Amino acid sequence: YVLGIDLGTSSLKGLLLDEHGKAVASAQKDYPLIHPKSGYSEQDPGQWILACEYVLDKLKAEVADFTAQLQGISFSGQMHSLVVLDEDNNVLRNAILWNDVRTTKQCKSITDAFGDELLAITKNIALEGFTLPKILWIQENEPEIWEKVRHMLLPKDYLGYWMTGTMHMDYSDAAGTLLLDVEKKEWSKAILEKFRIPETHLPELIGSSGMTGSLRSELANRFGFEKEVKIFAGGADNACAAIGAGIVNAETGMASIGTSGVFLAFEDSAEQDYQGKLHLFNHTIENGYYSMGVTLAAGHSLNWFKDTFAPDSTFEELLEGMDAIKPGADGLLFTPYIVGERTPHVDSRIRGSFIGMDTNHTIKHFGRAVLEGITFSLKDSQVLMEQVAGKSFKRIVSVGGGAKNPDWLQIQADVFDAEIACLEVEQGPGLGAAMLAAVGLGWFPTVTACADVFVAYKDVVQPIPENVVAYEKAYALYTQVYGATKELC
Ligand code: XUL
Repeated sequence: YVLGIDLGTSSLKGLLLDEHGKAVASAQKDYPLIHPKSGYSEQDPGQWILACEYVLDKLKAEVADFTAQLQGISFSGQMHSLVVLDEDNNVLRNAILWNDVRTTKQCKSITDAFGDELLAITKNIALEGFTLPKILWIQENEPEIWEKVRHMLLPKDYLGYWMTGTMHMDYSDAAGTLLLDVEKKEWSKAILEKFRIPETHLPELIGSSGMTGSLRSELANRFGFEKEVKIFAGGADNACAAIGAGIVNAETGMASIGTSGVFLAFEDSAEQDYQGKLHLFNHTIENGYYSMGVTLAAGHSLNWFKDTFAPDSTFEELLEGMDAIKPGADGLLFTPYIVGERTPHVDSRIRGSFIGMDTNHTIKHFGRAVLEGITFSLKDSQVLMEQVAGKSFKRIVSVGGGAKNPDWLQIQADVFDAEIACLEVEQGPGLGAAMLAAVGLGWFPTVTACADVFVAYKDVVQPIPENVVAYEKAYALYTQVYGATKELC
């Protein structure tokens, strides 16, 4: 067996697979987010360990040969979140998470001091979520803690350290720190020097399916593992979700609609210059990269709409009959900027709008406009990839809530003008993590070969030509709304 551990923002999930990629069992444990002030988002790293122990115990109880057959473990981790340790490797403060927005000032000073060079080295711009601004925040606001810091890790690497006693970070997660020279795959001396960060504070870099050690004997005994359990570095959650969806070549994109939305594509080099409008990170595939755009409120917009305007309906009831409304919702347009927008505008102040309301519009029109607006926002990322990098997507794999409703899948096919595929079994980033362990163990020579066996698709939805034309017009209007409403928000 291989075990993929998905260390997420609200829970830790373990997914146990056999050598054919078949799920044998899974277990999950939730943990809280801590919000000491508005905009702050933290977590106690000790909770990740407790959750991991719980998941290992549960799998042991459920699967008779778990302790005899488990060969390898790897991880998918929430990105960017900063864990700081002292000289005795003890946690110094709660981890500051990716969705914490206290660092606007630090982002500005990074951009003022290092803007274009930062983009050239890290392929990304300074955003509140990323790790470097969090480090500067600790330097400035908690100097007594900064003085004691000797190691900095990301969440999954802290869990890896707990398992092996060694500290590593894979390239896909390191890319989200703003400290990595993404092309050279080494810590950037220029950035470290500029922000007075000793390189010795950072762990050894390693490929995602690289072995970081074996499960410590204390833990092996505690859980009763009968053979050596090898531990592999793992990757960033978006990169793991991507390989778990089979995004291992340039022709296939991924549209993921959860609370936030992601449009993601494989890149075979770091050369594309998206000028920071899209993220560009190292992939979990050796020498591969991926670009990605983020819609902050994707599923969140639909939740908000339902809670506000149809609180007594289920999602099924709300979305029922959506196909009776024509593409373009009879002229009603929605922009899903209800918590600001990341891609392509990077604007935390913009807010959403409904445009073109008509006396004939019903709640179904509004519902359809919300689905379309979320999809248009993801299309913004697709268009950037097509225009800047000349990409052309033959197929887009749809994952998350957006893959559950057939009308929304048709909207995606028509808006993206591409064939939409869904996964046979959606197992999220944990599948990608387990794949990295399978490759690390030598079960497969490459992640791509592993994806051929572990990833299977079901429904495929084709675009309908007249809908594609209708959406080209509606999307052209959508792209004008940001500029027209920017000054009004
Ligand atoms: C990516 C990002 C989120 C986190 C969630 O830049 O901030 O998708 O990876 O864990």
